[in-house]
Amino acid sequence: MSLAVFEHINQVDSWVNSQQELGYTVGFVPTMGALHAGHASLIELAAAHCDRVVASIFVNPTQFNNAQDLLKYPRTLEADLRILEASGCHAVFCPAIDEMYTPNERTAHWDFGPLSTSLEGFFRPGHFDGVLTIVKKLFQAVHPNKAFFGEKDFQQLTLIKRMAVEEKFALEIIAAPTIREASGLAMSSRNRRLSAEELTIANQISKTLLEANQLGRSISPAELGLRARIQLMSVQGLVLEYCALVHAQTFEPLDDWPNEKAVLLVAAFVGETRLIDNVVIS
Ligand code: PAF
Repeated sequence: MSLAVFEHINQVDSWVNSQQELGYTVGFVPTMGALHAGHASLIELAAAHCDRVVASIFVNPTQFNNAQDLLKYPRTLEADLRILEASGCHAVFCPAIDEMYTPNERTAHWDFGPLSTSLEGFFRPGHFDGVLTIVKKLFQAVHPNKAFFGEKDFQQLTLIKRMAVEEKFALEIIAAPTIREASGLAMSSRNRRLSAEELTIANQISKTLLEANQLGRSISPAELGLRARIQLMSVQGLVLEYCALVHAQTFEPLDDWPNEKAVLLVAAFVGETRLIDNVVIS
């Protein structure tokens, strides 16, 4: 089956309906394009779980808090379509802005406590309302059986799971492990902006997280968080925005190790490029 490309909601809606009526399950991988091996692995995971795979490519303006960041966001449609086809994707939804938003439309707002207000929620005000607004619209348009998101955006993934429950979407959300370069650097569309020297600096993020994961629960949460923070603050050329150890579902800070998972999350600038990464401490 060659890749079907749809620009309109009614087209993707009726294609997915036709597949579901034939008894096929549909997996969905939302993206903003500039696809890399991390996205390809999401498509492959969706193809392993579902009979049909739909991706979307939409650079969502409402989730950028910085106009420059939106302008600089790489747009590589032809290469993206080749990656989708090679990874086993059956259809892609590439809407124009006016297909998804009415003029001057405002984003919806969800409040899930620290999960929505801390870390990315604090440093990028409005970002998550933009993400959840577009993901809700995409879920309504594509109505998949399963949707796939990478753990690299751990806070986003956790929020999308909460929003899907709150909005009563009848779909399963599947988390995919972060795909890393051989150096350990988490794959990201933003990595292509890093110079060779910046790449070496950026590698310290995953190195710190890996070391923290090895220490795990052998020391207190406060000590683990502090060690990682000090390690990252001592990296020349890296400007740390946050390094925080929190409860993996609620994002509450931790006094003691919880029975559930904890997650250590980092956001840092290397030059002009803002990078995020995390590790789950089981
Ligand atoms: O993670 C992303 O690429 C985006 O935030 C998403 C989920 C496609 C929404 O625009």
